[in-house]
Amino acid sequence: MVSANRPGSAPGGGVGRPDAPVFAPGPDGLAHLELVLNGAYPLPGFMTRDETEAVERDGRLPDGRPWPVPVILEVPEELSGADRLTLTDPEGAPLAELGVTECWRDGGGRPRLAGAVTLLRPPTYGVLRELRPSPAEVRAQRELDPSDRPLLAVVTDRPLHHRALHQVRSEADALGRVHGGDGRAEVLVIVDTGLEDEGMATAVLAAKPLLPSRTSFVVCTLPRSADRAGDVLGGPWGTREVALAAHVAAAYGATHMLAVTGADGPDVERVMAQRPPLTVLDPEPWRYDSRDGLWLPLTQVDPAHARTELTDEQVEAELAHGRELPAWFTPARVGAELARLRPARTRRGLTVLFTGLSGSGKSTIARGVCDGVRRSGRSVTLLDGDVVRRMLSSGLTFSREHRELNIRRIGYVASEITRHGGVAVCAPIAPYAKGRAEVRAMVEEFGDFFLVHVATPLEVCEARDRKGLYAKARAGEIPEFTGISDPYEEPDDADLVVDTEGMDPSESVARVLAALRAGGWLPEQDG
Ligand code: ADX
Repeated sequence: MVSANRPGSAPGGGVGRPDAPVFAPGPDGLAHLELVLNGAYPLPGFMTRDETEAVERDGRLPDGRPWPVPVILEVPEELSGADRLTLTDPEGAPLAELGVTECWRDGGGRPRLAGAVTLLRPPTYGVLRELRPSPAEVRAQRELDPSDRPLLAVVTDRPLHHRALHQVRSEADALGRVHGGDGRAEVLVIVDTGLEDEGMATAVLAAKPLLPSRTSFVVCTLPRSADRAGDVLGGPWGTREVALAAHVAAAYGATHMLAVTGADGPDVERVMAQRPPLTVLDPEPWRYDSRDGLWLPLTQVDPAHARTELTDEQVEAELAHGRELPAWFTPARVGAELARLRPARTRRGLTVLFTGLSGSGKSTIARGVCDGVRRSGRSVTLLDGDVVRRMLSSGLTFSREHRELNIRRIGYVASEITRHGGVAVCAPIAPYAKGRAEVRAMVEEFGDFFLVHVATPLEVCEARDRKGLYAKARAGEIPEFTGISDPYEEPDDADLVVDTEGMDPSESVARVLAALRAGGWLPEQDG
């Protein structure tokens, strides 16, 4: 599959056509690309408009083969005229060449390129690379021991707790019996996780000793970046996504599949209606019998003693407060791995972003909050609006573009502090919802984000006018002044709103600290 490797001047070391424009696809484009290149998809590349429409409408390609999801490459406008592209990983290393057969546009007019891809270099970026063998490699490994045993794929993006483990073992047993082989089916756990994010993979792997002896693991990235975002314990799965997982599982040689997508599992009838290339199992529901202390199929448990597993939200809350997950719910080794991945909030990095008008009291409250956080024994950095403007953002103006740059810089520093388990307290005006959302996304990649809206009304800020800026703004001496001649977009996603009108700053500080304590980010008692 390797194309003509002419030495050239393309970035990343001379593979690829020297004059082909270079493009690093977004997370879903990249996930699709890798699945095409490693043979998990029986497709040559990215889809044309006709193919996409047929798939969306009928769940079939124009040639009649069932296929559940469009395989699309979105590109920026300036590449819409390209006849070939060198596709790279996020670091710029060439992966494949795309021979463009069609440029088409979605309903919003955004360009997409279709055509076959040829491998230039096997991917090396991202985490857990050694756990990402190609389907052909996995099939070849199995052929060394030709036993004709069924292969049960378990597709999951979340840890396997007792309920799922019982279901996997019992389905593997049942398959082994039906096929009359020597006992259980083989199991291949396919862990779906982001390309650059270890996600729950290690927590899933922790369950290995509790799975049938002939179980192996692979990691792959399905194009589900939107579902994964911010969901640490696993995101929502659509019917077609489960059907896509079935195609990938079949490529790995699986004969059956069980999708672990949450407490209820997928609607298997609807998944099968997509005509996947293998049988998607609909396992019996299991419950914990709290009287006998056993997990059993639902039908064997007295409803009075049937306990349902913890919800994702409950698991998240237990971990946030540093509590051990109950032994009836999850194996100790899975619980321990989860606790490592999701430390208690007192040890997890946090960014507190104060937003509000100039003179609203952000800096005063932020300083007080920093003192309180420090007293509780945590390490804290204050990124105050005016101070940042002198250091990190000196030279920037108050144009929209520069305000966005300013908040992005603050977000970057805050996310690094968060990554290292510290507390960052930021107090810029941050007038735009988009900029605040960007900071939230940057931070939540590594830890928690807490937004405080200091909602002091404009009249109060203006009446205080400590720095005399409002008077100057009114007189037209300061252009683009927030609240006067520039917008302030009120947040609708604040975790806490404080209005300092008629409130002593120390009261506002106490309210923020109380909220951080209640949320588990600060220990109950000040140190
Ligand atoms: S932000 O909009 O980019 O978030 P930032 O918090 O850094 O603003 O800076 C705001 C501070 O700069 C205000 O507290 C005020 O002292 C000063 N300032 C100077 N010019 C302006 C302006 N045009 N709009 C708002 N604040 C200004």
